Amino acid sequence: MRFSIISLAVLGIFTSSVFAANCNKGLDYCGSSLISKGNYAHQILQLFYDIGEKNESYDDVLFTCEGTSAGWIKFVKRCPRSCINGGAGKNDFCQPVDA
Ligand SMILES: *[C@@H]1O[C@H](CO)[C@@H](O)[C@H](O)[C@H]1NC(C)=O
Repeated sequence: MRFSIISLAVLGIFTSSVFAANCNKGLDYCGSSLISKGNYAHQILQLFYDIGEKNESYDDVLFTCEGTSAGWIKFVKRCPRSCINGGAGKNDFCQPVDA
């Protein structure tokens, strides 16, 4: 019995790490990057609703990855210009206004 409980625990960790592969904890992402990474559209719109963000266009919005098992994200800011993909393993960022 003890063995099977441990197996279930290991399986549980494995399963949650599959879902956590959505975004990497601590990294910043453009809305457009999240959309190409996984099924984030629903989560982004839910987040906008929760914080009272009326503008539902999210391509040029910067988010940060909270890294919970659901790959949870937090709103950082809406970029005044475009949001730039920093590349794999790097932070995305807003294009500087005076660039
Ligand atoms: C929504 O945001 C986008 C850029 O993120 C902007 O181009 C657009 O004008 C905004 N729309 C409104 C209604 O503010």
